Order: sequence, then structure tokens, then C-alpha cells
Amino acid sequence: MAINIFNFLVCFSIASFVISSNARRVLDSKNVDGNNGGSNFTHVCDPSRFSDLGLDVSTFGFCDSKLSYDDRAKDLVDRMTLAEKVRQLGNSAKGVPRLGLPKYEWWSEALHGVSNVGPGTYFDDLIPGATSFPTVILTTAAFNESLWKQIGQAVSTEARAMYNLGRAGLTYWSPNVNVVRDPRWGRATETPGEDPYVVGVYASNYVRGLQDVKGTENATDLNSRPLKVSSCCKHYAAYDVDNWLGVDRYHFDARVTEQDMAETFLKPFEMCIKDGDVSSVMCSYNRVNGIPTCADPKLLKETIRGDWDLHGYIVSDCDSLEVMVNGHKWLGDTKEDAAAQALKAG
Ligand SMILES: *[C@@H]1O[C@H](CO)[C@@H](O)[C@H](O)[C@H]1NC(C)=O
Ligand SMILES: *[C@@H]1O[C@H](CO)[C@@H](O)[C@H](O)[C@H]1NC(C)=O
Ligand SMILES: *[C@@H]1O[C@H](CO)[C@@H](O)[C@H](O)[C@H]1NC(C)=O
Repeated sequence: MAINIFNFLVCFSIASFVISSNARRVLDSKNVDGNNGGSNFTHVCDPSRFSDLGLDVSTFGFCDSKLSYDDRAKDLVDRMTLAEKVRQLGNSAKGVPRLGLPKYEWWSEALHGVSNVGPGTYFDDLIPGATSFPTVILTTAAFNESLWKQIGQAVSTEARAMYNLGRAGLTYWSPNVNVVRDPRWGRATETPGEDPYVVGVYASNYVRGLQDVKGTENATDLNSRPLKVSSCCKHYAAYDVDNWLGVDRYHFDARVTEQDMAETFLKPFEMCIKDGDVSSVMCSYNRVNGIPTCADPKLLKETIRGDWDLHGYIVSDCDSLEVMVNGHKWLGDTKEDAAAQALKAG
């Protein structure tokens, strides 16, 4: 069942420029242009899938399992034109039919159970629903680390089952690990609460429940560790405002001291990466001390990739780059400037 993320997802740092208008897109790894949903799971590099497409799998280095993931990722990216690379950015990656690369919907959610909030997952007659565990704030109140992990394990087992039937993705943009400073935020039930340490312990346990494949938790090469599904700690960082008396998250500039940033707002993310080995972090809509989080090389490249050694990808929240241009009017950027800044930031 285990699959390494690099088997099928190759590697653009910042995604999600535009929210898909299609609310029910689903990964279809069998047909590149295929029908939505209802398809049988097939491995992307299945030779018969390639021959159905009129392609010879042996000519594609990215399908050669004897090569390293780095080499396979490079082989695939090197084959793409600039236009094809651009089409893989955003939550709905379009795929590259001429290379046998299927489309992929990156956006699925599993905050306290597999959910159809993200367009990568849907329910129908065959799978009418998944288990919905209690809200996160309530589960956290049990102060039981093994329970937090066990819930993650149950959720990822259901996620894999749904993926195998073509009804869910493998990349889950959960959990929400923003520390609750002010209940007026309105999203406190989604979170593990107000204590940065408890939030971090919850995060690393839930993430390990979602991601870890039994017996491979202590792999020596963490970049090649198999993942049950991929999890994502969000929203990075100092994000806990939604819309209050004319201040909203698309325009908000969080002014935070360096100490409060390190001790409160970044701590859960640090624990999520170092202790949970999460495979993704999502940057938020707001600015921190004047700079949009998705354009800040100190927050992304230097801290997440450098200081904390993330083994995985950074993704923007859906529309973060649009918000950078139209909400924050950051540096008078064009859309292209904003995309370039986000990519360069990490
Ligand atoms: C999936 O596989 C089953 C059993 O092999 C087959 O009956 C069904 O037609 C397949 N469905 C699709 C969409 O290919
Ligand atoms: C903690 O959760 C586990 C299940 O993971 C359960 O077996 C155990 O009894 C719980 N501990 C307490 C003190 O409730
Ligand atoms: C991984 O390491 C931890 C901590 O040393 C240990 O408790 C656990 O049993 C190990 N798991 C495996 C599968 O070796």
C-alpha cells in the first residue's frame, strides 16, 4: 500500500495560484484525460497504462524504479516545456498527456476524518461517507498522545481505501496548527487550542498517524521514506484572524515580535516538521511584519527548509498569490512577479 510521494508527485514548491472552479475533480491515474471518478486505481508507471496511451514506458527514466527519486524527478521535469511546467502549478495539476503524466488534484482535506471539502475527494453511492471524529479542540482535550496518533492512523486507512477506488487524493492539507490567541477568530474548533506546546505535540502525533507506514518510521533516508498519505501543517504563520471589524485575512499584516514569533506562532510548525516529519507546510494569506508569508525567504527557505530540514513541499493557500497582488498590493507586483517571488522564497 505504501507509496513514496515522489512516485507520482514531482515537485513544484509553490502551488495553488487559482482555486479550481470544478468542485468534484478527482485523481484519475488510469486515463490522462479521463473521466472523473469511478476509475480503477492503476499505478502511474504501469506499463499497460503507457501502452494504452501509445507510449513505451521503458523510454521514460522517471518510471525507472532503479533510479533515485532525485534522478526520476529531474528526468520528468527536464522533459517538460515551460508551458507544461506552469500547468502543474496550482492545486489542479493538469498533467502532461504526451509524457503519460496524469492530472492530479493536490487538494484533499482530513482535519478530523476524510472530508469532501477539498475537490480531490468526493463521496457517492459506493462510498457515501467516511468516519468523522470529534472536532480537534475536543480530541485535544483528552490530552492523550497515542489517541491522537491512532485517530490519524484510522483516517489515513480510510483515505487509502478511497484513493484505491479513485475517490480521494493522497495529499491532505491537514492539520490546522495555528495557535488560538483570540476566540473571535472563529476557527478555534479546528485547532488544538491556545498552548503552543500542546498544539505541537498534537500536530506531530496526528501527522505521524496519517503519514507513517508501520516498520519504516525510522528510515535512515528521510527523503525516500514511504508515506501512507501526505499530511500538511497549515497555515504558516501568525494567521489567526479571519474577518473582524473590517480586518480580514487577505489584507491583514500581523505585527509580531521576534520572541512571540519563535515561542508562539512558529513553535507548532517547528515541532510538526522536526518531530512529525510532515511532508508539507502551507503558507498563509496574511503578511507578517509587512511581508506576505508566501513571499518571505526567511520564513520559507531559511526557516522551514534550512533550520528545520523539511522533507517535502511548501504549498501556498489557494489564491495566496492572487491575494498578494490584489489584496496586499505587495510591491506593485504583476501576477508573474508574485509567482516568481513565491517560487524563489521557497
Ligand atoms: C474496474 O474493475 C472492475 C473489475 O475488474 C471492472 O468490472 C470495472 O469495469 C472497472 N471499472 C472501470 C471504470 O474501469
Ligand atoms: C489513550 O488512548 C488510548 C488509545 O490510543 C487508550 O487505549 C487509552 O486508554 C487512553 N488513555 C487514557 C488515560 O485515557
Ligand atoms: C523507531 O524508533 C523508536 C524510538 O527509538 C522506537 O520506539 C520504535 O520501536 C522504532 N520503530 C521501528 C519500526 O524500529
